[in-house]
Amino acid sequence: METKRSFIDGVNPEEELINEGAKWLQAGELVAFPTETVYGLGGNALDASACAKIFEAKGRPQDNPLIVHVCDRAMANNLVEVWTPVAELCVQHFWPGPLTLVLPKTVNVPDIVTAGLDNVAIRMPSHLVALRLIEKAGLPIAAPSANLSGKPSPTIGSHVWRDMRGKIPLILDAGACLVGVESTVLDVSGEVPTILRPGGISKEQLEAVLGEVQVDAPTDNQAPRAPGMKYRHYAPRGEMILLSGPHERVVQRLGHEIRRGHARLKKVGVLCSLESAPLLHNWFPDLLFVLGSKDRPEEVASNLFEGLRLCDERGMDLILAEGIAERGLGTAIMNRLQKAAGHRILHI
Ligand code: TXA
Ligand code: MG
Repeated sequence: METKRSFIDGVNPEEELINEGAKWLQAGELVAFPTETVYGLGGNALDASACAKIFEAKGRPQDNPLIVHVCDRAMANNLVEVWTPVAELCVQHFWPGPLTLVLPKTVNVPDIVTAGLDNVAIRMPSHLVALRLIEKAGLPIAAPSANLSGKPSPTIGSHVWRDMRGKIPLILDAGACLVGVESTVLDVSGEVPTILRPGGISKEQLEAVLGEVQVDAPTDNQAPRAPGMKYRHYAPRGEMILLSGPHERVVQRLGHEIRRGHARLKKVGVLCSLESAPLLHNWFPDLLFVLGSKDRPEEVASNLFEGLRLCDERGMDLILAEGIAERGLGTAIMNRLQKAAGHRILHI
């Protein structure tokens, strides 16, 4: 299939491009589009065969359900059987935005979307291209991140181009996504809301509005309640190690690990903070990628997946990543880094 990549204005989306995207979606085809978190690979959520194409294009395991994107409350009402009081609060405070709500589904939601679960994950994105596209199509849009399964989520159009070229008819490219990590997945079907995947809205932000918030923390022999959390995501091809601890000691250890990597004839890539970068030049890593200031997690989040992908593109065999404080958005960043590292973490 020939893939068209169209550049679209994120602030004033061109009407004819929105129309084109909407037509493909109505015809049961897939369109990649920007959201404020990461790019999504969209298909008509009410059409099981369109959804099957999503799994196919990504190489996604069938047991991993899809998030349904809506542009207004009426569209959401058609998909959700019961709105709990805590769900209502979430909608009021956090929609549109990077918060996905898990709620009991209606019969309108095909089984393939939820991978047979009784709950559906639903979110209203705030990116104008996403909202206009859904509105124009007049359909709820099932959309996982627009990467090949197992790769880091795409945060710029060229990531999508690389992963989806030849597989879908249209990519709407609006440049970089603002947030850079995926939405928070929050189960609000019960009394106490539970975070199934940390993301763009932090636990602290949720607690300020909802009170007590739990975190799904499955033990070794338990399955996570968001099926996608069990897969090794975001993984670069090279071996990756995450270093976490007091800044000065992490910098020292990074230098040491670069040298050890070179002694083993590895190409060593480093993902580090703005503060550490000047201290690491002298160790001559093969790639030094600055994620952002360690005190500005928003910056780090927006560069994270680009850094991971770049390590692959430049053929790094060993990737050393500096951790960040696990609070606010830092929690989602550390979750992605831990997974990318296959849980090889050095606590220093
Ligand atoms: O920011 C985002 O959420 C992006 C953009 C495109 O909206 N989407 C995204 O989708 O990250 P995906 O498919 O890459 O991740 C969806 C996560 C998976 O971990 C999946 O298992 C979980 O949400 N999920 C989806 N439906 C669920 C359900 N009914 N119950 C529990 N978890 C669910
Ligand atoms: Mg994904």
